[in-house]
Amino acid sequence: TKPPVRVAVTGAAGQIGYSLLFRIASGDMLGKDQPVILQLLEITPALKALQGVVMELRDCAFPLLSDVVTSDDPMVAFRDADYALLVGAMPRKAGMERGDLLGANGGIFKPHGEALNAVASRGVKVLVVGNPANTNALIAQQNAPDLNPKQFTAMVRLDHNRAISQLAEKTGQPVSSIQNVTIWGNHSSTQYPDLSQATVNGQPALEQVERDWYENSYISTVAKRGAAIIEARGSSSAASAASAAIDHMRDWALGTPEGQWVSMGIPSDGSYGVPEGLIYGFPVRCSGGQYEIVQGLEVSDFSRGKMDATAQELTEERDEVRKLGLVR
Ligand code: NAI
Repeated sequence: TKPPVRVAVTGAAGQIGYSLLFRIASGDMLGKDQPVILQLLEITPALKALQGVVMELRDCAFPLLSDVVTSDDPMVAFRDADYALLVGAMPRKAGMERGDLLGANGGIFKPHGEALNAVASRGVKVLVVGNPANTNALIAQQNAPDLNPKQFTAMVRLDHNRAISQLAEKTGQPVSSIQNVTIWGNHSSTQYPDLSQATVNGQPALEQVERDWYENSYISTVAKRGAAIIEARGSSSAASAASAAIDHMRDWALGTPEGQWVSMGIPSDGSYGVPEGLIYGFPVRCSGGQYEIVQGLEVSDFSRGKMDATAQELTEERDEVRKLGLVR
């Protein structure tokens, strides 16, 4: 059997953690032959609740769960971590401006970046889930100068999965018949769920739906799905967010299926005219533990406008955190 790998999860006693940890420990993320050691980080007042979650994890008797470590110290939780899922974040409170929110999260993601830099495995794969995810990922990345910037990613996979399921529902076709949707840009209401390359049963998706539905209903339904969940459920998406985090890490580590791509928030290399350095949702293919942007896709004027608008929002977020001294 393989030696265990170390998976750090922050905010482990929260809503998403309650779904995520069990999926990781059961082998959904890294495969049914890969033992894991969970290294769970929480703030001090949540450590007792975290102990309860750990009791339940142990009660599942997962054969792949080698050990569980808990701490309120990032230098302990990130030590030798091969994977780090940064879920814990500061929620937006009533009356908070974007700058306040970014600043409050800087207080979390700067020290987390520094601790990853100091103690994580040199090949650590980092996924930021906690919002504002793209800019939080940028803050962590910029405070980890000894790690490769490409090791820091943000989650747009929930949006990607929502984009697939909405299209499946509209066309009456199974989710498995749909390929190559893309979420460009920010995990926010400016994201661009792009169907221009998508196929349903191998045929262009945009030939199977009305243009008006796509432009005026679909895009906003996907982008505002988070708010609709809060409205219906009374709390934000948790199990679906955890499932998307599993999908993101699994595909990054184990590869995307032949001929398909997925969406990941990754540092822009300037592809598709996206300003270099922004953590931006791109279509990617993964193999051998590496991701690569899918190149050569045609970009219509409609797409260009949407891609630029979400890039603009991310540029503004970066400027805010730069002013706060959180990034270069
Ligand atoms: P939650 O509030 O239930 O849990 C967050 C946990 O993080 C809490 O237990 C809290 O004690 C912990 N925490 C706070 N500061 C911490 C720190 N410095 N170190 C370690 N832990 C810390 O929230 P939930 O529902 O689990 O969501 C977590 C985050 O994920 C939120 O920011 C949410 O907006 C975001 N999210 C992102 C999605 C995406 O698609 N990118 C989708 C859904 C949620």
